[in-house]
Amino acid sequence: MEYYFITGTSKGIGKALTEAALQKDNTYVYGISRNCSLKHERYHHLHFDLSDTTALRNNLHKIFVPLKEPEKIVLVNNAGVLGEIGYIGSLPSDNFEFVFDINVIGPAILMNTFLSAYYDQKCPKIILNISSGAGKKPLDGWSAYCASKAALDMLSLTCQKEQDLLGTGVKVYSLAPGVVDTAMQAHIREAEIDSFSELQKFKDYKEKGELYKPEEVARKILTHFIQEAAQKPVISSIRDYY
Ligand SMILES: NC(=O)c1ccc[n+]([C@@H]2O[C@H](COP(=O)([O-])OP(=O)(O)OC[C@H]3O[C@@H](n4cnc5c(N)ncnc54)[C@H](OP(=O)(O)O)[C@@H]3O)[C@@H](O)[C@H]2O)c1
Repeated sequence: MEYYFITGTSKGIGKALTEAALQKDNTYVYGISRNCSLKHERYHHLHFDLSDTTALRNNLHKIFVPLKEPEKIVLVNNAGVLGEIGYIGSLPSDNFEFVFDINVIGPAILMNTFLSAYYDQKCPKIILNISSGAGKKPLDGWSAYCASKAALDMLSLTCQKEQDLLGTGVKVYSLAPGVVDTAMQAHIREAEIDSFSELQKFKDYKEKGELYKPEEVARKILTHFIQEAAQKPVISSIRDYY
């Protein structure tokens, strides 16, 4: 069996990725999010709120269970939030903690425990962090999100360097999925123009049908970053595979 641990499986990219992975008979998916919207004989849902990092730390043994003769083990840190859209100076201070807990601290805890729990398993292991172009350039109104995705990129680069030095063969990616038609994009379009100067551009993406479909992004992620053994840069963008 190939075992996948995917966060944010209740909707959007994470749900599409889970459904795509389950199309192969030899996959088993552990999904992690607050809500469950999937039912499948090879899917097990774990209800977690990733903003509650104490509960996450106390329950890691329920996620990374012993696996029987795995052929491949994959961790996908996909769950993410944009947080409140607004300029620094006008935001509630707890917004920063909330966004970082879900986008950085949760993924870091999961990466740390994944690597220690399956250290002895000699099969291919992949850590795929879903990042964003927003981690590479500033977007006004998105400060916590941009900073959190930049942190996720560096977490991934450091982790890959360590795994290379250890000679484990573990592959780590921080992948920008492009602009995808999900609830996160709907949330962006609800922003006020004085909180986000590029609002119209994002409204146009939707109106002109320029958003990627979650299903096609999921297929590309699976094909190019999970099924193919070829080496790719740690910091990658799905746009390079269209
Ligand atoms: N859509 C885009 O254009 C785009 C662009 C660049 C990067 N991304 C990245 O892609 C990833 C997926 O985004 P998406 O567009 O698919 O978003 P989405 O449709 O809003 O889905 C987000 C997922 O994250 C989960 N999640 C949110 N808060 C959570 C929490 N507190 N605890 C546990 N799970 C939580 C949600 O599950 P529950 O609500 O059930 O908990 C949901 O399954 C994110 O990391 C995002 O930053 C998206």
